Amino acid sequence: MKSIIVVSGTPGVGKTTLAKLLAKRLNFNYIHIGELAKRIGAVIGYDKERKADIIDIKKVSKHLAGLKPDKEIIADTHVVEAIPPEKVKKVIVLRLDPRKLYERLSERGYPADKIAENVESEVLGTCYIDSVKHFGSDKVAQIDVTEKSIEELIEIASRIITENLRYNEDIDWAEKLGNNLAELLTKIARARFHR
Ligand SMILES: Nc1ncnc2c1ncn2[C@@H]1O[C@H](COP(=O)(O)OP(=O)(O)OP(=O)(O)O)[C@@H](O)[C@H]1O
Ligand SMILES: [Mg+2]
Repeated sequence: MKSIIVVSGTPGVGKTTLAKLLAKRLNFNYIHIGELAKRIGAVIGYDKERKADIIDIKKVSKHLAGLKPDKEIIADTHVVEAIPPEKVKKVIVLRLDPRKLYERLSERGYPADKIAENVESEVLGTCYIDSVKHFGSDKVAQIDVTEKSIEELIEIASRIITENLRYNEDIDWAEKLGNNLAELLTKIARARFHR
């Protein structure tokens, strides 16, 4: 049975907020992949630069492949390679205006390098591209969350999952933001020199 719904996106876009509420609404199990990795002993190190755990992707994937859950699972992660594709029904990639992402990550007190890395990933659409490569384009939906309320997001995500709604917003931040993006990237690049 295909039992996993993946909620993905760059750190800070709102995966955990949406995934938890969605699991409640649909009566699915919620799994935070980072927490799962800790629980099953699949954390194999710590990346000091990124201030993030390094996880054994194969171990997590194997664990998930072997699960026989009573309910469908919502998996919350930006590491899509840790999810076995054959178990996956849908992947929902959340996208956020890089300017807003920058604000959120700054508020979190992330170091300049980590902010830069994540904002760049969002601009390039890394999570979306990785998801399409790993799961195939048919399974991957993409939502621009910037102007949507959490209720709207739950509604769209629910329809993607339960009605097999095809939902794929065309997102190109460079095209949409033009000079504003250039300004943001310049600001981020400068901040990396002033530590
Ligand atoms: N739809 C939303 N509207 C406004 N604020 C939101 C929304 N979703 C999330 N946020 C806020 O943005 C911040 C980041 O959200 P969240 O922790 O869910 O992101 P995440 O993608 O899970 O991040 P990480 O990958 O680091 O775990 C939180 O402070 C949250 O309250
Ligand atoms: Mg989270």
